[in-house]
Amino acid sequence: MKILVTGGAGYIGSHTAVELLDSGHEIVVVDNYINSSPKVLDRVRELTGKDFESFECDIRDKKKLTEIFQKTKPDAVIHFAGLKSVGESVMKPLEYYDNNIYGTVVLLEVMRACGVKKIVFSSSATVYGGGNVPPLREDMPVGGTTNPYGTTKLHIEKILSDLYVADNLFSIVILRYFNPIGAHDSGRIGEAPNGLPNNLMPYITQVACGKLECLRVFGDDYPTPDGTCIRDYIHVVDLAKGHLAALNGCADKPGVHIFNLGTGVGYSVFDVINAFEKANGLKINYVVTGRRDGDLPVCYADATKANEVLGWRAERGIENMCLTSWNWQSKNPNGYDD
Ligand code: NAD
Ligand code: UD1
Repeated sequence: MKILVTGGAGYIGSHTAVELLDSGHEIVVVDNYINSSPKVLDRVRELTGKDFESFECDIRDKKKLTEIFQKTKPDAVIHFAGLKSVGESVMKPLEYYDNNIYGTVVLLEVMRACGVKKIVFSSSATVYGGGNVPPLREDMPVGGTTNPYGTTKLHIEKILSDLYVADNLFSIVILRYFNPIGAHDSGRIGEAPNGLPNNLMPYITQVACGKLECLRVFGDDYPTPDGTCIRDYIHVVDLAKGHLAALNGCADKPGVHIFNLGTGVGYSVFDVINAFEKANGLKINYVVTGRRDGDLPVCYADATKANEVLGWRAERGIENMCLTSWNWQSKNPNGYDD
């Protein structure tokens, strides 16, 4: 299959690009590089030994995007492009609604006009809000998002469902990611946050390499065994493979198919720090501070649906997630800026 990958130069997009190429698919990457660099794609070419077309294009540029579709004639789209910082979205809601929601609407219009009716969309566990008791299942109610970023994911899921009602030839896969961490085994691609990391693992790796002094653990008074929040961390390579499984399992089945991509196992913040220290033989300097606004005490997936329907399950454990995160960070202390 020929797959157009929006946001293919990003963290999850680049790992998925490698898996797609390694399994014999052709890809076309569309990215405006607002949170990435074209250098990432050179590394994907180097890792896979395969070439592919890539276009610097904002998905909101309908004319340019249409030309790309007409020129490259993809069979399906995997849609990663979007802004993803929760804190920034609170400060810049209009930019998030414009980029994520309007961008997706433009993409869908172009797909419809060009007769491309298969899409895999990057959603998030954040759509479950705080009203459900984990493990979170796909049939639980969604809503109650607490920030514009999460709300964009919720709205896009609804837009995709409405589109299917209007045109039931569309095959739509919505993947709800839990907490992706880790990096490709080569250490050539990985997560390269701009500025101060918001998320736990990139913060830990930057403390480990001395770029940051001390990790702040946001609260140890939650109702969990050690008092810190519990999350379902999933290796980015497992996540990338989940996209292949989704394409194989659902691309030819019109409908709206929703899957959690998680491991089904929860780890606390202290568990992650301990696992990182043990796996890499390093000490992480940390201090416990107050809670971060909007954090839920416990969030982890029921991952059985993806296993039963797609035959996919996460294979890598927390030790490998910690090893590969550090392998990437230590080999690329400044991300792709070297
Ligand atoms: P990322 O920022 O590394 O990748 C997103 C890519 O999209 C970047 O390369 C960026 O330059 C590009 N992009 C953004 N807006 C664009 C636009 N208008 N036109 C073209 N390209 C554009 O993020 P990621 O971690 O790889 O996440 C990929 C997707 O998965 C996002 O939609 C994100 O919201 C979602 N997601 C991520 C996580 C996570 O923890 N990383 C969790 C749940 C969901
Ligand atoms: C966050 C977003 C979520 C998004 C996901 C992936 C919030 C509230 N949620 O999830 O919408 O889909 O990222 O991008 O931002 N922690 C620390 N110290 C740190 C960083 C994190 O203690 O410096 C803790 C957090 O309190 C949390 C855990 O580590 O308990 C994981 O945090 P993080 O990596 O930011 O992910 P989420 O908050 O689960």
